[in-house]
Amino acid sequence: MTPTSVQAGGGRAGIVRAAVLESVGSPAIITELRLAAPGPGEVRVRMLASGVCHSDLHVRDGEWDRPTPIVMGHEGAGIVDAVGPGVGSPRVGQLVALSWLVPCDVCRACRRGQVWACPDSPSFRHRMLDGRTVFSRGAADPILSYCAIATMAEASVVPAAAAIPVPDGTDPAAAALIGCCVTTGVGAVLKTAQVPAGSSVAVIGLGGVGLSCVMGAVIAGASRIVAVDRVPAKLAVAREVGATDTIEAGDDPARTAEALRDLTDGGPDFVFEAIGRTDTVELAIAALPLGGTAVLVGMTPLGQRAAFEVYPLVDGSRRILGSNYGFAEPAIDFPRYAGWTLDGRLPVHRLIDRHIGLDDLEDAFAAMRRGEYTRQVIDFDQG
Ligand SMILES: NC(=O)c1ccc[n+]([C@@H]2O[C@H](COP(=O)([O-])OP(=O)(O)OC[C@H]3O[C@@H](n4cnc5c(N)ncnc54)[C@H](O)[C@@H]3O)[C@@H](O)[C@H]2O)c1
Ligand SMILES: [Zn+2]
Ligand SMILES: [Zn+2]
Repeated sequence: MTPTSVQAGGGRAGIVRAAVLESVGSPAIITELRLAAPGPGEVRVRMLASGVCHSDLHVRDGEWDRPTPIVMGHEGAGIVDAVGPGVGSPRVGQLVALSWLVPCDVCRACRRGQVWACPDSPSFRHRMLDGRTVFSRGAADPILSYCAIATMAEASVVPAAAAIPVPDGTDPAAAALIGCCVTTGVGAVLKTAQVPAGSSVAVIGLGGVGLSCVMGAVIAGASRIVAVDRVPAKLAVAREVGATDTIEAGDDPARTAEALRDLTDGGPDFVFEAIGRTDTVELAIAALPLGGTAVLVGMTPLGQRAAFEVYPLVDGSRRILGSNYGFAEPAIDFPRYAGWTLDGRLPVHRLIDRHIGLDDLEDAFAAMRRGEYTRQVIDFDQG
């Protein structure tokens, strides 16, 4: 890999290789960019690992509207190698997991303490908090940073509030996944749904997000955890991380619903949809028993609608919950989940089945479209 000119400990600008999306729906391009020095309230992170999340693929394929050109990636971890003026935490040398949502602190959701639902997060402007961009190809060609963290780059400058220290000894690839899929899936079970011990749980879709739901269900003490995917290899990994039963989904959602009911005495108490397809969302709701809860974690392309029969939902007191970012409070949850990777409760390393370089990103997207690999991680070889 090309050497980088980022200098440890310094506050100077540098040149870094990064994955840039020139426009949504076009291939990511790996190119050298200028990275500014961190300004007030910002830190520079030398990236160690970035997961490839299906949300990146939604953006790459133009299923979500996002401004461009933009440096991609929102599931990363690295070492802080420079801090801007006024930054107390994190400190230079700390391993940090990056949060893709820094709350605005003033909107209605933030005032209620529901920071994970903040619609006005400055992260979603893909710029630093003061509105500037940190990547450029020259003075007149600014490049945005996806969710203000742009993890698919050898180094990134990010808001200090997005860089959450995790305990020493945490594997950087696991820390990266804590930045998105682990927090999203584990939090959906423990925080959004608050699954009680002894419940029956089903998880539909076993990528990094769904497998994290499975791990969360183990921690919650679920008595039955049924894992569903159309790819048999995913079912095997789900068993390794704690699923008690598996269903290989075919083309007929009604048959999957029937199999779920058979395995769980009439339907799982909680069904987590972790794909983002309207037919599996409808399946999740249709499979619920009386009093059951469907938790929607997967995200569809913009504008899609799903349908359900109203009478049984009301009559059976069934519930549908949306779960963004696993109701994350990153400063609290990231170190907690990292601690659980260290004590063995969260076997995050089992989710990672392909290590790649930045140049392999388009290949990784193609594999993800085919349903291959549970989580692919970009390793940054920086010596
Ligand atoms: N709610 C949030 O805050 C949040 C955060 C991160 C990701 N997401 C979303 O979660 C979803 C999953 O992300 P991921 O990175 O785990 O994706 P992924 O592509 O790695 O995993 C999806 C899995 O679903 C399986 N699948 C696809 N179609 C299927 C079908 N018809 N029946 C059964 N299985 C099927 C695939 O084989 C694959 O294993 C995406 O939509 C992503 O955008 C949401
Ligand atoms: Zn993600
Ligand atoms: Zn807010």
